[in-house]
Amino acid sequence: MKMSVIGCGYLGAVHASAMAELGHDVIGIDVDAAKIDLLRAGRPPFYEPGLPEILTSATASGRLRFSTEIADAAGCAVHFIAVGTPQKPGSYAADLRFVDAAVESLLPHLSPGDLVAGKSTVPVGTAARLAALVAPTGATLAWNPEFLREGFAVEDTITPDRLVYGVAPGEEGEHATSVLNDVYATALAADTPLVVTDFATAELVKVAANAFLATKISFINAMAEIAEVAGADVTQLADAIGYDGRIGRRFLGAGVGFGGGCLPKDIRAFTARAEELGRGESVVFLKEVDKINLRRRQRVVDLTVRAIGREVWKAKVTVLGLSFKPHSDDVRDSPALDVAVQLYGLGVNVTAIDPQAIDNARLRHPQLTYTSDLEDALRGADAVVLVTEWPEFRGLDPEWAGALVRTRTIIDGRNTLDAAAWRAAGWTYNGLGRP
Ligand code: UDX
Repeated sequence: MKMSVIGCGYLGAVHASAMAELGHDVIGIDVDAAKIDLLRAGRPPFYEPGLPEILTSATASGRLRFSTEIADAAGCAVHFIAVGTPQKPGSYAADLRFVDAAVESLLPHLSPGDLVAGKSTVPVGTAARLAALVAPTGATLAWNPEFLREGFAVEDTITPDRLVYGVAPGEEGEHATSVLNDVYATALAADTPLVVTDFATAELVKVAANAFLATKISFINAMAEIAEVAGADVTQLADAIGYDGRIGRRFLGAGVGFGGGCLPKDIRAFTARAEELGRGESVVFLKEVDKINLRRRQRVVDLTVRAIGREVWKAKVTVLGLSFKPHSDDVRDSPALDVAVQLYGLGVNVTAIDPQAIDNARLRHPQLTYTSDLEDALRGADAVVLVTEWPEFRGLDPEWAGALVRTRTIIDGRNTLDAAAWRAAGWTYNGLGRP
């Protein structure tokens, strides 16, 4: 199928490349000329495992092209809207200006029978409003949320765990469903579960999924707070409750908490939208989820200060990790970067290291000292703080690291190290929610 993907960020660039990889004829469109130049050259503007390979093969096959001109979307049967919906400055609500601009700019290029398929995460009610804008062109609108995880975005797009279509009632909805079935023919042939529903449900599925995941993480982090005063071990607690199939162990990783471009802003936008709808009380717990999450960052900072145990401005601290999670260079709302910046703000001599996120971190916080050399990072440290569980940090040898630092003190902000092995190597080990 001939399709356009409007917005070539973490979502759109992966979606465009994956659709071309599946055999579709795709044009990726973005207003950022520098981004389009990189993509045309087969170079992703961000780090995502597996993306360079499919981007290169799809551009070489001629099935994937990029443009800054929205007019180049004309003639496509499907137009995916994959632009960002960040948090609005000074508010909890989502900023819809990029979605609105994308749809409005597309209108003159739509033909009767075209499908506009929204992928961006939007407040419930947005699709119905946009459908009314699209209707006079004779095109149809559907909402088709994505659930991809950064770091696994290619895999999640090519083999999704479910597909959701929010469609209009009647013939229009049947048309939208049949077009999307053609788009996702490969996944559907592999028996991927499909939910065809109305606009509002499709929009809510996405925010409800992220709200649930955020709640699960904050639940275990709340247990970590209790474990800290009760002398219990939250990691064993998570193992034990996780054996209950109804609960499950995934997303019960207690630590410095969640971040990234989705979970934090999506739960805030959800509370803002619920309040607009007069049902703020239904999701008021998400405010607690957010607060618990932010307290964990402070906890890591406090543990570090306490571990240093003297004037912090005389101490050197190594921060291991800057991205909001491993296998990503994304530092949006990253707990790791936040911890580094807070320690710096206290006067600590911070050296931060990350396998992929240094450039993005430096753009936001040029004041920090960065290195990509692990020996450099650790040499002379008075404390080491692990905040993103990259494999190279998880696999650190405590003896090797111990020979480089000044004081063998580690704060494991992801509860990912073998505490016994580190203690045996003479380290003072501090986990979160662990004795
Ligand atoms: C998330 C959703 O998983 C995805 O479905 C949606 O489309 C976009 O938002 P992503 O932001 O890529 O994806 O990251 P995810 O893997 O969900 O992790 C989010 C954050 O939670 C990370 O900061 C991670 O470190 C943290 N996390 C995750 C925990 O603190 N503990 C856990 O047990 C799991």
